[in-house]
Amino acid sequence: MADKQRFEKFARFVAERFSAARRVYDIAGGQGRLNEELTKLGRETTTFDQRHKHLDVRYAQRRFTVDEPCACDVVVGMHPDGATRVIIEYAAEHNVPFAIVPCCSDNGMSYKPWMRHLAELATTLGMAVEHHTLEMQGRASVIVGVPQR
Ligand SMILES: C[S@@+](CC[C@H](N)C(=O)[O-])C[C@H]1O[C@@H](n2cnc3c(N)ncnc32)[C@H](O)[C@@H]1O
Repeated sequence: MADKQRFEKFARFVAERFSAARRVYDIAGGQGRLNEELTKLGRETTTFDQRHKHLDVRYAQRRFTVDEPCACDVVVGMHPDGATRVIIEYAAEHNVPFAIVPCCSDNGMSYKPWMRHLAELATTLGMAVEHHTLEMQGRASVIVGVPQR
């Protein structure tokens, strides 16, 4: 069961870890709850997801791909499921850091191998990888990637 406080906790983490980042892309953001929390913390946040019903936040109602023009300082995803890999690929391609809280894999892989795979993908794409944990129930591990260029 996902923790209802996950948005507030992850927003605080993002704001502290990337204190200089003003513009955030929130990928697979569902209704936009993480966007609300990041906006409260003074971040200009754009949520990408395909949902028709969402909160009144800056919302790009479409599938996020690596071809999306980059107007962000950091790209993040809370339980982004099928968008997890593309967040890492996007960050590497556009030379911005990322922070993700992975949940389900996109290929049936179980959680620990999936986490290892994501960290390896980021390293292979030239990013320095960090691991953090949010104080919350459910999938709470954060992978951060910072471009090395
Ligand atoms: C498990 S939900 C998580 C939603 C929200 N982040 C949360 O924690 O409640 C996964 C979301 O990923 C979205 N999604 C999957 N692939 C995507 C993509 N390529 N671009 C944008 N959204 C995507 C789905 O539409 C869904 O809303």
